[in-house]
Amino acid sequence: MSAAVCVLILSALWGHTVVSGDLSRPTKVRLTSHDMNLVLSWDLPAEPAGLLYTTEYRSSVINYRAGCVNISTLECDFTRHSIPQTIYQFGKYTARVRAHSGTETSAWVESNNVAMDKETNISSPIISLLSNGAAIEVIIQDPVFRISSLRQVYSSATYNITYWQDSQKQKTRSISNIQQSRVVLSDLEPWTKYCVKVQISTGRISNNLSQPSADVCESTTIDKEVPWVAAVVTFITMAIAVALVVVAVVYRKRISHLLCPKDSLPQHFKEDLMVRPNSSMYIAMCNSHPSEEIFHQVSIIPDSSIIEAERPLEAEPPHTTQT
Ligand SMILES: *[C@@H]1O[C@H](CO)[C@@H](O)[C@H](O)[C@H]1NC(C)=O
Ligand SMILES: *[C@@H]1O[C@H](CO)[C@@H](O)[C@H](O)[C@H]1NC(C)=O
Ligand SMILES: *[C@@H]1O[C@H](CO)[C@@H](O)[C@H](O)[C@H]1NC(C)=O
Ligand SMILES: *[C@@H]1O[C@H](CO)[C@@H](O)[C@H](O)[C@H]1NC(C)=O
Repeated sequence: MSAAVCVLILSALWGHTVVSGDLSRPTKVRLTSHDMNLVLSWDLPAEPAGLLYTTEYRSSVINYRAGCVNISTLECDFTRHSIPQTIYQFGKYTARVRAHSGTETSAWVESNNVAMDKETNISSPIISLLSNGAAIEVIIQDPVFRISSLRQVYSSATYNITYWQDSQKQKTRSISNIQQSRVVLSDLEPWTKYCVKVQISTGRISNNLSQPSADVCESTTIDKEVPWVAAVVTFITMAIAVALVVVAVVYRKRISHLLCPKDSLPQHFKEDLMVRPNSSMYIAMCNSHPSEEIFHQVSIIPDSSIIEAERPLEAEPPHTTQT
């Protein structure tokens, strides 16, 4: 009786360590689950380092089974170390850990419960974008689960796709309840950069959203019809270019003669022609209109007396001269 009281008093004085065993126990023991793994982790006990740890787990229907044995790390992933088939996606699990060093062991420390499908934290989907004219195709990859797969656990999981113009982050649009993993966004402006974010909704009552994906951005180009028009325009341009080349080859002599005549003016001539005289006379000539020339009509009538006078004297006729 007195011994029991003594143990109780010691226990009250020294905390758990005395009653639990020779070694101090691991602290902050927690069981977590991300993407359907099951990981027990803990903090170092107060005692010095060099300890080993052993873990076990149980479900609501089976008793404790061995997990990691004699490990020196501070966590144990039961979905990696134990027999894989013994953890089920719809199971509810508890785990425990104890420290040991040589022959000394600590007491077990039990963790919280985790109901795998209800509580696992789902990481973000991975998205990639394919620009196709003025539309963008969103391709969604589910996070990889350690056991089972997203669709097997959450058969009614849906995607919530949020998208916005890169320049207008506050004006987002969303489409939700999407079940297919490839979705075409077609109500987009051409030549515009859009960003997309996707979040998975499990359709469950609690812990029902995945982490949102990273924002992924892609630019639209131009309407789908236009590549066809562009092809025609390209074809016509090519045809004209080919025709021009053919003409140039056929008439190359004439063209070269026309563009580069063989005879050219001597250099000093060219320079003289290029120089614009700046004498006042030249400028006056340029600015003045050609003056009207005034003239009178003049008729020349031959004078017979002069003609007579110019005749040789010796042949003078007898008639009188007129003036
Ligand atoms: C899920 O994540 C939250 C926040 O990080 C954490 O508090 C919670 O323990 C996690 N649940 C499980 C089961 O790991
Ligand atoms: C774990 O270590 C203890 C001693 O600390 C030893 O007795 C036991 O055999 C070891 N178990 C395994 C599986 O190595
Ligand atoms: C989808 O995600 C957006 C952005 O996170 C949010 O505003 C919107 O309410 C969500 N829609 C649904 C139906 O959950
Ligand atoms: C998602 O979970 C929250 C609580 O975490 C809950 O209030 C909400 O109703 C759930 N949504 C659905 C669709 O179940």
